[in-house]
Amino acid sequence: MNLLQLKSLFIDELTDIYPKDEILSIYYLLIEGFLQLQKKEVFLEPTIELSTQHLSQFKNSIALLKQEKPIQYILGNTEFCGFIFKVNENVLIPRPETEELVNWICSDRISEISNQKDTDSSRTSILDIGTGSGCIAISLAKKCPNTKISALDVSKNALTTAKENAKVNDVDINFIEQDIVNLPRKLNTTLLKKYDIIVSNPPYVRELEKEEMQNNVLQNEPHLALFVDNDNPLLFYEKIAEFAKENLTENGLIYFEINQYLASETALLLEQKGFEMIEIREDIYGNKRMLKATNKSNL
Ligand SMILES: C[S@@+](CC[C@H](N)C(=O)[O-])C[C@H]1O[C@@H](n2cnc3c(N)ncnc32)[C@H](O)[C@@H]1O
Repeated sequence: MNLLQLKSLFIDELTDIYPKDEILSIYYLLIEGFLQLQKKEVFLEPTIELSTQHLSQFKNSIALLKQEKPIQYILGNTEFCGFIFKVNENVLIPRPETEELVNWICSDRISEISNQKDTDSSRTSILDIGTGSGCIAISLAKKCPNTKISALDVSKNALTTAKENAKVNDVDINFIEQDIVNLPRKLNTTLLKKYDIIVSNPPYVRELEKEEMQNNVLQNEPHLALFVDNDNPLLFYEKIAEFAKENLTENGLIYFEINQYLASETALLLEQKGFEMIEIREDIYGNKRMLKATNKSNL
């Protein structure tokens, strides 16, 4: 079978499930992933023959796509903030909204650095809570100079993937296995330090919002990363805010990705926990998706 015939096979087999545009973009992504061929090369040489091994790889992918498996899990990687991250069923697929959160932190951090005289003595310490694939922590390490970064998750399997991603992207991150909801009275010593920034994209989708979600997310992405109880949807924000109150430096910052439907409730919670200068930002789709708050001294 050649590339042109493969394209027809994709369209014939997947038309009932995906719109044509999406089938074609998946086809070109898989061609690039499996054959390292760019779209323009396929246009120039559509009659390149596939090896038996590659053909079975594509047929297997079609079977997985019929089960609505996300393309990122089929390829085993995705791009986030311009860097490549391994992904699998143990980690959430990084979302474009989360890139905006990373960019917010970087732009704040960079303007702060340019206001400082002595940058060497001022490495910003950052903790990413619920790191998953490590996309936030690793992108911050790549994009923000002069930072030292820790990243925490309750999932051992997610941390294994995050560690691989740190290695692939050549950054040094201190990874911590910890449940942020049930912190022990005596904390892990690696957590006992003051951070300048705490960032988190915690689970925030209420069970009642499942109806709005697509099948490929519901059936494939880890529910541990996504869902919270309808009755206590801000649990993670509450626990992280309490932890941050103790573990942020004075004037330290907390950055959250938030549930768009609970933006004002989340801001109120942060205010009640003693944070100030609370700012909510919208993502590119116009949804209230990010929040920043400052830790002022209680004195
Ligand atoms: C929404 S995902 C975010 C993943 C990644 N930071 C991102 O932005 O793509 C939430 C993460 O929180 C982790 N998590 C869930 N419950 C947790 C807990 N009790 N303590 C620490 N991490 C938890 C999940 O394993 C998951 O990796």
